[in-house]
Amino acid sequence: MDKDRIDRYTLITGATGGIGYELSLVFAKNNHNLYLIARDIKKLNEIKLYFENTYKIKVIIYEADLILENSVEEIYAYTKKNNIIIENIINNAGFGSFGRFHEVDKDKDLNMIDLNIKSLTHILKLFIPGLIENGGGGIMNVASTAAFQSGPMMSVYYATKAYVLSLSGALRLELSPYNINVSTLCPGPTDTDFQSRAKVKKAKSAKRFMMTAENVAIGAYKGFKKGKEIIIPGFQNKVLVYGSYLLPRKLIHKIILKVNKG
Ligand SMILES: NC(=O)c1ccc[n+]([C@@H]2O[C@H](COP(=O)([O-])OP(=O)(O)OC[C@H]3O[C@@H](n4cnc5c(N)ncnc54)[C@H](OP(=O)(O)O)[C@@H]3O)[C@@H](O)[C@H]2O)c1
Repeated sequence: MDKDRIDRYTLITGATGGIGYELSLVFAKNNHNLYLIARDIKKLNEIKLYFENTYKIKVIIYEADLILENSVEEIYAYTKKNNIIIENIINNAGFGSFGRFHEVDKDKDLNMIDLNIKSLTHILKLFIPGLIENGGGGIMNVASTAAFQSGPMMSVYYATKAYVLSLSGALRLELSPYNINVSTLCPGPTDTDFQSRAKVKKAKSAKRFMMTAENVAIGAYKGFKKGKEIIIPGFQNKVLVYGSYLLPRKLIHKIILKVNKG
């Protein structure tokens, strides 16, 4: 391990499953100490034990429901109290909802905004000054290929990810003088619990493009280390995103509606 990295930590939200777990694993394999946050304390404990024994890194875990009003303030207070120095912030925790806007449960969508947008912003607000104070670091915000256009049948989810992409692009420019790299990870459909939690109908066409969370995380880590602005894992996802610029917006939205409806 780099000598000056010994007491620095990579904070990862949503580390107990899916893309967040695989990101944690790839950072662990590359000798980063980890500061892992999620709601499931049992899983967090198992991950801590496994990573510390296998990869000889230090792992701090913190049980938090990031939707709750005070959770981010409490994480920050804990970090300060224990002199935990953060070198990277990976804002990964997020979920989706599926259905027509007026039919999806109001609280589900409002909670989604609280997690995907509010907690991510809150974490950045509190932790960026520390990165600057400590001479720099990295931020990876997890958006989605959904960030690039509107998403009928998943309207609020797509909009939350557009926010993440937009915010990250601006922060990248603001923070580069402070030696802080900001990357946005934009995975396409990935085989995790996300689809069942969002109650997404699995369209055959979408299934065909599904990547494993492991491959998403490996691509994400490589892109992050290279300081890439936008990381779109998988050739097909890149084609879909960049190809969509060539088509009229109206047509793109019709295609998305068809795919999302299944
Ligand atoms: N899967 C896809 O197709 C896909 C595609 C593009 C982008 N993404 C994005 O990738 C990110 C990860 O998604 P995933 O597919 O890995 O989903 P996932 O398998 O459902 O994992 C979500 C993670 O977030 C944590 N989490 C959920 N709600 C939380 C809360 N209120 N407070 C704290 N932690 C919470 C979960 O842990 P606990 O239950 O222990 O809290 C879990 O570790 C999300 O931002 C998602 O929007 C996913």
